[in-house]
Amino acid sequence: HRHLLGIEGLQPHEILGLLDRAEDAIEVSRQVEKKKSVLRGRTQINLFFEASTRTQSSFELAGKRLGADVMNMSVSSSSVKKGETLIDTAATLNAMHPDLLVVRHHAAGAVHLLARKVGCSVVNAGDGAHEHPTQALLDALTIRRHKGTVSRLTIAICGDILHSRVARSNIILLNALGARVRVIAPSTLLPGGIERMGVEVFRDMKEGLKGVDIVMMLRLQRERMNGAFIPSVREYYRYYGLDAEKLSYANEGALVMHPGPMNRGVEIDPAVADGPQSLIREQVEMGVAVRMAVLEALSAHLPNQ
Ligand code: CP
Repeated sequence: HRHLLGIEGLQPHEILGLLDRAEDAIEVSRQVEKKKSVLRGRTQINLFFEASTRTQSSFELAGKRLGADVMNMSVSSSSVKKGETLIDTAATLNAMHPDLLVVRHHAAGAVHLLARKVGCSVVNAGDGAHEHPTQALLDALTIRRHKGTVSRLTIAICGDILHSRVARSNIILLNALGARVRVIAPSTLLPGGIERMGVEVFRDMKEGLKGVDIVMMLRLQRERMNGAFIPSVREYYRYYGLDAEKLSYANEGALVMHPGPMNRGVEIDPAVADGPQSLIREQVEMGVAVRMAVLEALSAHLPNQ
């Protein structure tokens, strides 16, 4: 593939190949000398139309550890603020001959559209509520390192499924690797027809968490709710916030994940987020490794001159 636009369309062996490549990148990142030269002389532009801490910084580090020249386009100080469209912005950047464009945009499908307009490789760093493929890959890598496999594990994704690109990418990837996937959410935060994605649906946390190996919590994405029903935070936390009591319904030693940014006391109790079952910090380390793996894999498709 020349681009990574989503998990949809990737074959299980391609997903596993990226995870294996990421294992090597973990070793590189833990060395004192962290540089490889796979992308030496190449230019990577990170174009983020939405806020990011983890994804943008880890793509920057990943590109630099592979030897690329990395430029971060700050949309808040760019001509996007003066009304330049996505396509004009992309065409402008394309004229500077980048090799890799890493894009986050608030509209689902925007990154696919952009990929058709530029001559370089494009990586989706999150498009609206559609996909966030590198998040799903880093989650799978984290799970595999702890459980040895993803296949046949029971994994619950909990909370704001409706607005979550992380949930969508994870459901596709985890199903592709043979996991049993559940979603747990109030009806108002479940997309219609979610069962057709191959998940079991629960509306009660205690019921849904029984027999679960991995609990993935999601942030309540109030910025995507457009004035529609926003649950009261206190009520939401009571029924859907992950605390020690609800976690006790999952399998013993069940592991807790969250893609970040976390809202402590909204979807997760700080004692669980920082507790012995939490993999949240480790997910961040895996994020750099997975992004190195993706950029390295795409480098094989970059033109030689
Ligand atoms: N998980 C994730 O995408 O975090 P950021 O929004 O900080 O990049």
